[in-house]
Order: sequence, then structure tokens, then C-alpha cells
Amino acid sequence: MTNNRPILFIDSGIGGLPYCIDFHRKNPLEPVCYLADTQNFPYGPREKEELVSILISLTEKLIEKFNPKIIVLACNTATIAALSSLRERFAQIPFVGTVPALKPAANTSRKIGVLGTERTIGEIRNLNLVDASCEIIGIAAPQLVYFIEHNFDKAGANEKKEMARKYIDLFRAEGADSLVLGCTHFLFLLDEFKNEASPHIEVFDSLAGITKRIEFLLDKNNLRADAVSLPSHTLLLTGASDSFWQDRAQKLGFKLELL
Ligand code: DGL
Repeated sequence: MTNNRPILFIDSGIGGLPYCIDFHRKNPLEPVCYLADTQNFPYGPREKEELVSILISLTEKLIEKFNPKIIVLACNTATIAALSSLRERFAQIPFVGTVPALKPAANTSRKIGVLGTERTIGEIRNLNLVDASCEIIGIAAPQLVYFIEHNFDKAGANEKKEMARKYIDLFRAEGADSLVLGCTHFLFLLDEFKNEASPHIEVFDSLAGITKRIEFLLDKNNLRADAVSLPSHTLLLTGASDSFWQDRAQKLGFKLELL
């Protein structure tokens, strides 16, 4: 078994891409493959059983085609609904899941605000990520997921700022002193959220933690690539390709393929 197999990132769309890019920039010798499951976007309103079935069938195809050495669910909704089923079913592959960064927030926050999809917010208290004494204010923001997936590139600075402000105002009104970005899509608005939240609300995300976790697994399982030349990388779509995705792939220097 060679170590030059790719690390595979999965999300319903564009949301997990910053996670893939962050890892890729810090680890340029590792081949990466990013799957945007655009055909099944959005994941947030779907039932758990449906998500488990979608993700098991995708993972089967992806293992057959790419034989990945690590699979990263760069999606909170997919992680919360399906990570344990995927680990059970594909026990030979290490999985990395993404959950809202409640733990670091709990170190300094008394009232933690969490913004996520309907599914994530519905489950957030059952995940036992923090002590039961921590107060959690969860807000589901499916419109924001849609905005980032479909309109973010065309939106102007003011529209982005307003989007962030709208949610920060809701959390402020509830007395939150932290905001956890509990959907990977929301990282696209990180600067806007931070600007609107400052100085009373601290914003947390899981980006750096996920990259560190993948690096840890590579080292622990002795899976680092032994590439002597730069590897190739793939951007995969389940839905139709269009100029948006073609541009992304081109800018990143990734091959664009349909699954
Ligand atoms: N990016 C995903 C997450 O982190 C889900 C977005 C969606 O498809 O609803 O939850």
C-alpha cells in the first residue's frame, strides 16, 4: 500500500473547500481530492437516515475510484448525521469529522451562540460537546447556506456585511458572548462575522483544528506521502459542472471531474 493515495474531503458544496485548501497549502506534497456533492445540496434539511444512505453510497464510489488514505467530512451536518455509520461501515479508513467548535468557546464563553444548519442545530445539545451547565443558543441559518453556495461570488461587500450583521444582531439580542460557526459554509464570511461581532462576541471556527487533526493522523499512522514530485489534485462534483466550478478548479490548479 503506497502513501501517495489522496486525502479526500467531502461536503455538500463549496463549504468544505477552505478546509481542503488550508490543509493543501500547509501540506503541498499530499494529494488531495475535494468532493462537492452538489447534486444532494443542501444537506441541512435532510433526515439523518437519508444522509447516512447518501454518504455511504458516495463513500463506496469514492473508495473504489480513489482509494483515499484519510476521509475528511468537511461538513458538520454530514458528521453529525453519518460519521459513526461511516466509521462502522468503512473501518479500514481513518475518518476526520467536523463538529462545531464548542469546546474552545466554552473556555471563555458563558453563553455560546452556534450558527448551523437545521440538522446541526437540532442535534447540538445531544452531542455533549460541552458541560450541561454551558448555555447554548442555537440558530439555524439555511438561507445563509444557500447564499454562500449560490450568491457569494456575485455579492458585494455591503451585502456580505449585512448578512453577517443580521445574525450577529440575533445572537447579541440573546446575550451570547461567543459565536461558533457550526457550518463549514459560514467560513466564507469569517471576516464579516468577526468585524460585526467585535469586541463583545468572540468568533470560533474549526478550520485550524481540522488541519491539525489530519496532520496528526498522517504522522500517527505513518501515512505521509513519499512523493518526490508535486502531486496532482482533484475537484469532484456529483452535479453538473459550470463556469463557477471550472474557475475554482483552474485557480486552485486542481483537475475538475464528475463523479
Ligand atoms: N457545509 C455543511 C455543514 O457544515 C452543510 C450545508 C448544507 O448542505 O446544508 O453543515
